[in-house]
Amino acid sequence: MSESASVPVLTIDGPSGAGKGTVSARVAVELGWNVLDSGAVYRSVAHAALERGVAVDDEARLVELCGTLDLSFSPASDGVKACLNGRELGDALRSEEVGVMSSRVAAIPSVRRALLELQRSFRRPPGLVADGRDMGTVVFEDAPVKVFLDASVQERARRRHLQLKEKGESVTFDRLFRDLEARDRRDRERSVAPTLPAQDAVIVDSTSMSLDEVVARIISLVRRSPILVP
Ligand code: C5P
Repeated sequence: MSESASVPVLTIDGPSGAGKGTVSARVAVELGWNVLDSGAVYRSVAHAALERGVAVDDEARLVELCGTLDLSFSPASDGVKACLNGRELGDALRSEEVGVMSSRVAAIPSVRRALLELQRSFRRPPGLVADGRDMGTVVFEDAPVKVFLDASVQERARRRHLQLKEKGESVTFDRLFRDLEARDRRDRERSVAPTLPAQDAVIVDSTSMSLDEVVARIISLVRRSPILVP
């Protein structure tokens, strides 16, 4: 067994907009663990591809790009902060253009393979909270605690609408609802690593739960598991 395999991992998978980012950051801060935002890994590939004019069907160059990413993550109270090649990208990674491109590059098997080791390298003591779509099913299949964080499309669209309104961006609720449904379908129905709960995942439906309730429920799952938390 490799040394990192003894480091505990909590995986939090689920569809877009279920609140995984905020929840993962809060849980990581509370446990004092490291955090991996795997959505930001795919978004970074998409961002770099758009910046360098690499087309979505240029598999060889996309795979090459995967090898050049120097990424780090830190948990903060409002979500996970991602740094790419020493630069905090923040909102640049969250644009709609990057979001759409990331879900297209994420459907390419060779890109997913090229990002496996990078994602696993974040498994460092004292523990890791890994957030994404296939953390519990593929990347950290041996994780001792797996959560699938879900919420209705209606509720996820409502939360995102509120967030964007607070930022002063005007997008209609209907448009957000349709975009979320389309992205869910693409992520769930793709042949590689579809967004599905691992067989041993605990499903947490946050539709009518507050953020504090979700965090408390997940922390209690970690504390009740046989893995050691100081
Ligand atoms: O979670 P986020 O919206 O940032 O992820 C962006 C895209 O990256 C998703 O739509 C999904 O297609 C892809 N993704 C993935 N596997 C992961 C995390 C994200 O395919 N583990």
